[in-house]
Amino acid sequence: MTASKPELYRDLAGQLAALLAGESDRIANAANMAALVYHGLPDINWAGFYFRRNTELVLGPFQGKPACLRIPIGRGVCGTAARRAETVRVADVHDFPGHIACDPVSRSELVVPLIQGEEVLGVLDLDSPVLARFDEADQAGCERLVALFLDHHRRYPDAWLRSV
Ligand code: SME
Repeated sequence: MTASKPELYRDLAGQLAALLAGESDRIANAANMAALVYHGLPDINWAGFYFRRNTELVLGPFQGKPACLRIPIGRGVCGTAARRAETVRVADVHDFPGHIACDPVSRSELVVPLIQGEEVLGVLDLDSPVLARFDEADQAGCERLVALFLDHHRRYPDAWLRSV
């Protein structure tokens, strides 16, 4: 029987906790998290991070095709999530003004910001070739994964939790 979405995300959260355990490097951990999400969720063509540097988001670890390197805060779906400091779920990217098409195959998108206190450190971005691929359960599940990632890195304040 196929697992429900909450079960799937619970399982991914367990796997993520195991992957993060004992490692402080945010690039290494973000790389494994991108791989976990990309391979663990169905109908995904891109999964990865952008990290904030001043007024831009800069491409971080990801799985999928090569993507745009820098996104100004406020631009595209990623920049919008960063500016609003809240998750943005787009059912049809063609209907999102200013959407940045890194891969023309992408049809829907989910972007979860990485928030530490008042600061947006970056975003987790998921793309799908399927229209309206992401629902409330995906949003809740991905927000939980991001919370796990941030909680883990709070244990290593010297290694990262300030944007560069
Ligand atoms: N579509 C995003 C750009 C990043 S790629 O999808 C990997 C956006 O509009 O911000």
